[in-house]
Amino acid sequence: MSAVFAAHPVFLPMQLRDLDEVVAIEREVYEFPWTPGNFRDSLQAGYDCRVYRAADNELIGYGVLMTGLEEAHLLNISIATAFQGRGYGAQLLEHFIALARERAARSMYLEVRPSNLPARRLYQRRGFRQVGLRRGYYPAANGREDALVLSLDL
Ligand SMILES: CC(C)(COP(=O)(O)OP(=O)(O)OC[C@H]1O[C@@H](n2cnc3c(N)ncnc32)[C@H](O)[C@@H]1OP(=O)(O)O)[C@@H](O)C(=O)NCCC(=O)NCCS
Repeated sequence: MSAVFAAHPVFLPMQLRDLDEVVAIEREVYEFPWTPGNFRDSLQAGYDCRVYRAADNELIGYGVLMTGLEEAHLLNISIATAFQGRGYGAQLLEHFIALARERAARSMYLEVRPSNLPARRLYQRRGFRQVGLRRGYYPAANGREDALVLSLDL
């Protein structure tokens, strides 16, 4: 079978065969990246894992959404450095918001480091509001960093 590429960026279910590329971006964009096992566990658990691919099949980004009873939790959203600042993160976030609504979630939650200003700005512009703070949630170069807990009503 020959490969058929879409004419525009597409969202696709993440597969095990995507993991090498996913993990390469993960290590590029985070100081404390998820391991391949974290992604495998998410796939196995049935979370909504998506890849965002350009027309030439290059991996733009990916994310992982966990949906429980009326609540969706965005566990990961990442855009490759070369593609950042071009609106792809906003599109990927929108895709997960639509997916959470499809799953009948009434609100969506995520955690973000206070120091991650680009991500905070993205979420704020989309209407997320801070609803909590988890002290020392993240590993950091000099100890631990808090997490802001943000939420969006769906
Ligand atoms: C956060 C992230 C997903 C945003 O994706 P992106 O494609 O770069 O963002 P977009 O181009 O869609 O921009 C959306 C908003 O983010 C902000 N933003 C994006 N890149 C930025 C940068 N380098 N500096 C400051 N703000 C930035 C902008 O405010 C932009 O809004 P605008 O319309 O006012 O310009 C991406 O930067 C990323 O993957 N970062 C590393 C991983 C990460 O931190 N993930 C989030 C963990 S909570």
